[in-house]
Amino acid sequence: MTRTINSALAVLTALITVLTLSIFVLPMNCGKAEAASALPTSGTKNITGTYVISSDCVLPKGATLYVKKGGRLYIREGVDVTLNGTLKIAAGGAVYVKGNIISSKDSLISNTGRLKIQQVGCLSLGGTLRVNKGGMVYGQGTLKVLNSFSDISCKGSVTVKIKAPEPVTKDGVTTVGGVIIVNRQFSLPEDYGSGLDKDTYSAFLKMKEASGYDMTIVSGFRSYEKQKSTFEYWASIDGWEQADRYSAQPGHSEHQTGLAMDITSLKQSYGDTAEGKWLAQHCWEYGFLLRYPKGGEDITGYIYEPWHVRYLGKSTAKLVHDSGLTLEEFLGVA
Ligand code: DAL
Ligand code: ZN
Repeated sequence: MTRTINSALAVLTALITVLTLSIFVLPMNCGKAEAASALPTSGTKNITGTYVISSDCVLPKGATLYVKKGGRLYIREGVDVTLNGTLKIAAGGAVYVKGNIISSKDSLISNTGRLKIQQVGCLSLGGTLRVNKGGMVYGQGTLKVLNSFSDISCKGSVTVKIKAPEPVTKDGVTTVGGVIIVNRQFSLPEDYGSGLDKDTYSAFLKMKEASGYDMTIVSGFRSYEKQKSTFEYWASIDGWEQADRYSAQPGHSEHQTGLAMDITSLKQSYGDTAEGKWLAQHCWEYGFLLRYPKGGEDITGYIYEPWHVRYLGKSTAKLVHDSGLTLEEFLGVA
């Protein structure tokens, strides 16, 4: 009798194990899954059902993997998919990445659907990532930027963890993924800069027009010398220690990049005005970032400055905005 119960229990345990494994290991719709041993070597492969990549493979240059509406592409954990060609995800299509996508310089990922990078997954981006309107890159995994943030054009949303490349200092100027960083830690050479950047100014004009407010540039480009006298002026009014909380030392001001501007008012109450609120809410749409947010002094090095915006370009500004991080955190230099 006991033996019968024991063997019934063993069968039950085995059944539960198999069921559990199938839930975690197999994708949904696994009955219809097409096992991919290799990717197309040329031309376009359309994926309309479920397609599972379970061993390392390469999509060569000139070949396209097109996940169409209703299509599901799974990349299993630990599997490396090297992209030299194009991965296209249509609206209604989805790619689930538990392994790694390694995209090379000439590759393109064009996403109007969903690209889910799961916890253990990673997209190492060496090529172009185009997140089209309605497209999403999301999940708990990592998007590792290998070259430059300008490789990402972002009209949809990217909410995965973004891992930036290491800072590079050349001729005294430090960039991370092509983005200039100037703060307490990173400085500029004395002779750097020659005026407000043209793209920054035209983005400002567009933003001003769209806002409907009479925004003015209180301060744009400031040379090393100008920053020196600016700091000395504030120190003479508020004392060195207070001035140091809102005015940068010469060589350490973003204003010297020509990419930063102070808008309309240098009072913190500007943040409570309709214009200040509009600026905080919408500046990213024109390529700007409110550089020194409330409560960010420990990270950015400066107190809340609702007037100071930094131009990053539309795509990068959107990524930083969507991340909810300060520039230091986003670039991994906090
Ligand atoms: N107010 C900012 C920190 C600057 O002086 O550049
Ligand atoms: Zn400023």
